[in-house]
Amino acid sequence: MEISVTEVSPRDGLQSITNLVSTADKIELARRAAAAGIRRIEATSFVSPRAIPQMADAEDVLAGLADLNDVTLEALVPNLRGAERAALTPVHDWVCFISATESHSQANTNCSVDEALARIEPVVALAKNCGRTPVAAIACAFGCPFEGVTPLEETIKLVKVLAEMGIQRIKFGDTIGTAIPRQVATLAQKLTADNPEVDPVLHLHNTRGLSLANVLAGLQAGITSFESSIGGTGGCPFAPGASGNVATEDLIHFLHAEGHETGVDLAQVISTGKWLEEQLGHSLPAHLLRVGPIGTLVSFNDVKRAKG
Ligand code: COA
Ligand code: ZN
Repeated sequence: MEISVTEVSPRDGLQSITNLVSTADKIELARRAAAAGIRRIEATSFVSPRAIPQMADAEDVLAGLADLNDVTLEALVPNLRGAERAALTPVHDWVCFISATESHSQANTNCSVDEALARIEPVVALAKNCGRTPVAAIACAFGCPFEGVTPLEETIKLVKVLAEMGIQRIKFGDTIGTAIPRQVATLAQKLTADNPEVDPVLHLHNTRGLSLANVLAGLQAGITSFESSIGGTGGCPFAPGASGNVATEDLIHFLHAEGHETGVDLAQVISTGKWLEEQLGHSLPAHLLRVGPIGTLVSFNDVKRAKG
């Protein structure tokens, strides 16, 4: 099966890092992902620089990616102010984000869920006027750091409102990595039955080591779009306990091992993960950065030599 992978490291991967990463490095990270064959990149956020200082250079990052014609660039857009900024850049997909729970909505966007929905409406209108595509991301779609397990009905309620606004592509964020395969399967089945017009994307974090199990559950339930972050970087600064996304290295390796096609060159993703470790000055959690793909053989002679 052909699987679509969106690289989110330039946005989710970097947003919580307090030391500012240079604009040049952000551009290089995205360009390396594109060179590896990734066709969708969430490059930055048009959020308040006071809330997320790391994303203050959104315009400059996108200017440095303007010539990537065969890549769909995405950016988070929380409000009309962000949409007006995005309209002046080449970013094609505007990701309106909303939380499935009231507490995370307040922590993340300083407003209620209904107020956040009201902020999305003018963003969708402007996107359509500018020939861009409005996309939605539901944070805490499976679980919330303040409220526990998110009832499926809360997430589905938002899907219906967003779909009525004319948004087709909806990302389901496991913001704090508490989703379990059963939740993913149930959500996917419900979407297929009730909202077949929605194009679901799974955005998983590996906080509890369950991300690839959730990918498998998603695949088995017919989901074909996933998000990941090179190195396994990532996490929402307004969700206590959040940690990295499923690593792109591990996701691509798993998908290929299972016989799916992604159009992505795993070796290039791994070398980008190693490059990112050098830029950030520490090791990153992607398993494939430590051990290489299945089939990476150690020569018997090397082992004998090492033993002396
Ligand atoms: N771009 C740049 N600046 C923005 C902005 C935008 N899209 N939206 C608001 N601002 C600025 C305002 O100009 C104002 O600046 P000032 O304090 O210097 O006057 C300040 O932010 C507050 O504006 P306000 O409209 O009152 O927004 P708010 O305080 O209710 O914040 C958000 C709402 C959504 C803009 C803010 O909470 C935010 O950016 N959150 C980031 C969430 C995020 O990215 N989370 C991680 C991903 S899930
Ligand atoms: Zn995330």
